[in-house]
Amino acid sequence: MKKIFVFCAILLVLLTVAGLTGCGAGKQQQNQNNAETENASAPADTAASAASTPEETAQPASQEPSQTADSKTLVLYFSRTGEQYTVGVIEKGNTAIVAEMIAEKTGADTFEILPADDHYPMTYKELTDVAKREQNENARPAYAGTLPELSQYDTIFIGAPVWWGDWPMILYTVFENNDFSGKKLVPFSTHEGSGLSGFDKKLAAACPDCEILEGLAVRGNDAQNKQDDVRAAVNDWLTGLGY
Ligand SMILES: Cc1cc2nc3c(=O)[nH]c(=O)nc-3n(C[C@H](O)[C@H](O)[C@H](O)COP(=O)(O)O)c2cc1C
Repeated sequence: MKKIFVFCAILLVLLTVAGLTGCGAGKQQQNQNNAETENASAPADTAASAASTPEETAQPASQEPSQTADSKTLVLYFSRTGEQYTVGVIEKGNTAIVAEMIAEKTGADTFEILPADDHYPMTYKELTDVAKREQNENARPAYAGTLPELSQYDTIFIGAPVWWGDWPMILYTVFENNDFSGKKLVPFSTHEGSGLSGFDKKLAAACPDCEILEGLAVRGNDAQNKQDDVRAAVNDWLTGLGY
């Protein structure tokens, strides 16, 4: 009887040890599974973030913008939203649309000229009145912020809507407050019939020692409503300029 009791006690101890070990192994397996799950998401996250770094998002050379260290380009533009001629109320300005197309193809930096105090009405008729008054007064409306350091650019596209046959007066403020000398300047306009409206000659007058390259005029309505055609025209023009 005593032998049977000792045998059972030993058996019980052995079973307990085996059970504990089994349980531990199960738990370890579970941790490993968790670790695998965590590790499974880690590379994916890493891959996602790595893919967004410039080095990793390699593009075919043909799709890379033509901006290089020794030839930097800036697109400087003024544009209005709100109610505009023939297009109704717009959320992105006509000139802004063209400016973005230029930047996309050239890889240029962009800077939007915004009024320091936005006194321009959002309705077309009122806007034309304010613009006419500024033109009659030869006003120099202030713009917000500071232009990027111009010394880093050798080519600057300058775009605006035609207002009463001329640049909006705020562009003259920009010309007079910044040194564009020695740059290649490329005018572009959006309009509803006046074309480039002498923007090239006015740029030459504003900066006599600049080289003025061939400009582009785009109908504002086309910029809103015929973007494929406009993009093709912009790309052709840029190709002609060597981009
Ligand atoms: C104040 C004002 C004056 C304008 N004057 C002319 C003009 O003289 N000739 C012309 O073709 N279009 C004129 N337009 C039409 C704009 O040039 C055209 O709608 C332009 O695409 C607007 O561009 P944005 O949306 O970038 O401001 C005028 C528009 C405004 C608001």
